[in-house]
Amino acid sequence: MAQVLLKKQGTIAIISVDRPEALNALSRSIIDEMDDLVEEVMKDRDIRCLILHSKKNFAAGADIKKMIECNEQEARAFLFSPTYNKIADLSIPVIAAIEGYALGGGMELAMTADIRIAGEGAKMGFPEVTLGIMPGAGGTVRVPRIIGEARAKELIFTGDVITAERAEAMGLVNRVTADDQVFDEAMKLAKKLAKRAPIALAAAKATIRSGQEEPDQNKSIDIEAANWAKLFTTEDQKEGMRAFLEKRKPAFQNK
Ligand code: CAA
Repeated sequence: MAQVLLKKQGTIAIISVDRPEALNALSRSIIDEMDDLVEEVMKDRDIRCLILHSKKNFAAGADIKKMIECNEQEARAFLFSPTYNKIADLSIPVIAAIEGYALGGGMELAMTADIRIAGEGAKMGFPEVTLGIMPGAGGTVRVPRIIGEARAKELIFTGDVITAERAEAMGLVNRVTADDQVFDEAMKLAKKLAKRAPIALAAAKATIRSGQEEPDQNKSIDIEAANWAKLFTTEDQKEGMRAFLEKRKPAFQNK
């Protein structure tokens, strides 16, 4: 039976893990299922936003029962990074809606999102060093880029599990909401993003990322200028500006 589900609500896609008995711990087969669903999202041009959300617990990390006897080669094959990179590389915005535990590989999944919304009872962290390993699905790379090196080191070196309030204070999540409102808040935001010009949004996402990765600031500003100018080749740019001048809402066509 499927342990990862893809649902669509209009132009919003939702990917959920369904393994409640293990707090949605992520096995290799779960990640394989997720990979197929991410590919489906990637190919569907009608989807404007992806929400990652699992009921009760986001994911209590990689499956320790499956990892314990791995040798080095098996550990490499077990890793989730190729799928997580696909999520991070999606051109549409991705929102992680975090309830309950988001630990280790679960939190690394949340770090592939552009925006994280957490419930007030969420518990997050990278406990890998308490198990004799370290984050291996993008955590050592994405976490410092998002919250800064010193904060990332404190989290990853201590393995501390932190509250949503603390995660918000350090920028690990964008905002905190009531536990029973997490999904609704994510959906509200996804619907707002779905109304924005998709090509412009994708360009902004790609340009912010390249700006983060390129050490030369002026080069990044040149890339921004080129990407900005290119948007003037789209019909949506004409539509957006025309709609403003005609005092109506734009109807973007993704063209
Ligand atoms: N792997 C496998 N099973 C897990 C799991 C995990 N990561 N997390 C929870 N489970 C299972 C438990 O084994 C238990 O199953 P059984 O009933 O069969 O024993 C069930 O889920 C419920 O868990 P608990 O009884 O432990 O529930 P709790 O409420 O007492 O504690 C918890 C909750 C604090 C999250 C605790 O389960 C826990 O610490 N889990 C492990 C968290 C962790 O270390 N995650 C990081 C994994 S390493 C990683 O992710 C590496 C990477 O870079 C990819």
